Amino acid sequence: MLLPAQIIQKKRDGNALTEEEIRFFINGFTSGELPEYQMSALAMAICFQGMNFDETMWLTRAMIESGKVVEWKHGALGQRTLPTASFYADKHSTGGIGDKTSLIIAPLVAACGVKVPMISGRGLGPTGGTLDKLESIDGFNVNLSLDVFQGITEAVGCCMIGQTAQIAPADKKLYALRDVTATVSCLPLIVASIMCKKLAENVDGLVLDVKWGSGAFMRTREASADLAKAMVEVGKRYGKKVCALQTDMNQPLGQQIGNALEVRECIEIMQGVATGNADSQSRPTTAPSDLLEVTLALSAEMLLMAGLAKNVADATQMLQKKLASGDALRKFAEMIEAQGGDARVCEDVKRLPIAQHVRPITAPKSGFVQSIECDQIGYAVIALGGGRKVAADKIDFAVGFEHPKKIGDAVNAGEPLMVMHYNDEARAAEAEGTVQHAYRIEGKPVATRLPLIVQKIG
Ligand code: URA
Repeated sequence: MLLPAQIIQKKRDGNALTEEEIRFFINGFTSGELPEYQMSALAMAICFQGMNFDETMWLTRAMIESGKVVEWKHGALGQRTLPTASFYADKHSTGGIGDKTSLIIAPLVAACGVKVPMISGRGLGPTGGTLDKLESIDGFNVNLSLDVFQGITEAVGCCMIGQTAQIAPADKKLYALRDVTATVSCLPLIVASIMCKKLAENVDGLVLDVKWGSGAFMRTREASADLAKAMVEVGKRYGKKVCALQTDMNQPLGQQIGNALEVRECIEIMQGVATGNADSQSRPTTAPSDLLEVTLALSAEMLLMAGLAKNVADATQMLQKKLASGDALRKFAEMIEAQGGDARVCEDVKRLPIAQHVRPITAPKSGFVQSIECDQIGYAVIALGGGRKVAADKIDFAVGFEHPKKIGDAVNAGEPLMVMHYNDEARAAEAEGTVQHAYRIEGKPVATRLPLIVQKIG
């Protein structure tokens, strides 16, 4: 007979667990037979001792099998009989600040003919969540049943929802526990948590955006490369087409941070109004933005996997055409409509929640931006009310920041570091201090810029 305490002890002492022991724990925890304190103890032991690749695979498998695996209308890749069979692909990011690429990628890639079923998350720690952003669109429903999710994906081409009780319920329970027991930042637990949801979604192709830096869970390039390699390997063992782009999260991505502001930025990019960049006076320019660069790179990988393009250059050209023609925006509007939201935001971004007050946060001294404690910008959004301090908090969708100064930018004392959108003076004062402390400004110019896309893995 297996005793939970013996399994915890085995891992605590640095030994590898068997598939049977891992399955016993996950099944017991999911069904409620095994208490949270024993699951927490095992999670902490895993954080300290790690897991080998087999253990990570078994953990992922046990978590997938705690729920349903989606069956797509046209069957899994390789078992299809229809000549017009669809390719199903998803993209997943490990999370960041201003990281809103999913809002463009889903409709853009769907407009190219790939089916994009996306199961996304809410804000976590300082990082923003796709579901919270989508809910800033009046009426948008992210809580759909699996049947409706599948129906919209087939009919529209893309659908974006939250985790349902049917998909990987073990992860839903374990994730909530990890969030409050300091066991989120742990490679095997992150791999199993992300991959079990994506593999239960049963897509043919998966592109991972694995971030590194001061606004990411993985603070070093090495740790984020290890995470990317492990996730790619797990996906491959399941017969999926999978690759990861390792991208920079040492500064906010794009020009807007905060739920409704980020939706606005994405719509304006799909309208062709904004490129998402700003010059030193915080005015939009026509240079391609960091946001667009990462969005196009991830989307291109999805088209390559689907066999719709021969190389990245062809794929990028195809994507740019879909943006310029308005097809991506139309697809976004179709998806919003299908999910009960007010699709008129796509023509008129003023229909999104707007904060009562706007004012700049100024630089305390002159010089060049050397670095940004990017997670602090996420915490400043939470301070404004744009994220949750406790799970029950209601989000103020309108608040956030725009036009942040980026690393290497010159700034004069008194000039804006970014512009704050807020509804409450006391909250604004706290957020302002947090932002000012997050910037390191010194007299010397920045010699080398960090690459936005570090490498492709897989
Ligand atoms: N996102 C997830 O879904 N799980 C993790 O463990 C971390 C980020």
